[in-house]
Amino acid sequence: MKISDLFNVTGYGAIVTGGASGIGLGLTEALASNGARVTMLDVHAQRIETETKRLRDAGLDVRGQTLDVTDHKALDAAFDEAVRVYGRLDVVCANAGIDPGAGFVGSWVGTQRPRVPEGALENYTDERWNRVIEINLNGVFATVRAAARHMKPRKSGRIIITTSMAATHVEPAIGAAYMSAKAGAAHFMRSVALELAAYNITVNAIAPGFFVTNIGGGHAQDPAKQKAVAKAIPMHRVGFPEDIQGLALFLASPGSGYVTGREIIIDGGLSLGTAD
Ligand SMILES: NC(=O)c1ccc[n+]([C@@H]2O[C@H](COP(=O)([O-])OP(=O)(O)OC[C@H]3O[C@@H](n4cnc5c(N)ncnc54)[C@H](O)[C@@H]3O)[C@@H](O)[C@H]2O)c1
Repeated sequence: MKISDLFNVTGYGAIVTGGASGIGLGLTEALASNGARVTMLDVHAQRIETETKRLRDAGLDVRGQTLDVTDHKALDAAFDEAVRVYGRLDVVCANAGIDPGAGFVGSWVGTQRPRVPEGALENYTDERWNRVIEINLNGVFATVRAAARHMKPRKSGRIIITTSMAATHVEPAIGAAYMSAKAGAAHFMRSVALELAAYNITVNAIAPGFFVTNIGGGHAQDPAKQKAVAKAIPMHRVGFPEDIQGLALFLASPGSGYVTGREIIIDGGLSLGTAD
């Protein structure tokens, strides 16, 4: 292979769950702009319609389907359909996820982080816990399983899971279920990476810090909050979906062929500690 082909994903078939917004949309654009043919799966029908049209109008080879990752049968069928339409499956991004709102503290920054009763453990409902695990952990399992079913016979593939800095660092504003789901997804990634390595399938995770997306009702879009959070980030700015794209392209392409079982934190240095 020529060195200039290291990051070439032209003609690849890809699937991105939660692909119509935020980080997933950034992943979709990174792959499609570099010649991959991408199927976006997302529970938000309006976003699927709008983003599919916008990207196709821009000349990118994408298709969209409304899908809830908690419906594992529908997920399997959507994978079959994507492979039928694009003829191959090279890259799968298990990215769909939710932030269920208030953990046990009510603010993201500051020394005064008031405790909030609804996020306290004694008040944490089964419904809330189960919903987060169902989407952020069980949805990842079902997505990666569907990927393996297609990739294993071909002895080739790239699986990328969006975990979070929360897999290793507790964020009290989000709460226990999210921490547990992301830590679970990170270790699931390692287990599957070990299992699939012999089949030339790499499995890695991208663990974002604080990114401006629509998650949690779009709270990160508030400029005042961005400014406040940026103060705690060593690079003095929050992240945007574009910041993920280079890493995603690396993990999807031949260039990362010998990298597997790794969770790469991308956070402007936030997890390193406090600088100034
Ligand atoms: N934004 C951050 O700061 C941040 C940090 C760390 C990790 N993450 C992770 O990044 C991933 C993407 O989140 P984002 O921040 O881009 O949020 P986002 O809300 O902008 O995008 C997530 C997309 O997933 C979709 N989705 C939600 N539930 C779904 C389901 N059941 N089935 C299919 N699609 C579903 C949503 O409709 C949405 O379009 C998530 O796994 C999230 O936990 C985000």
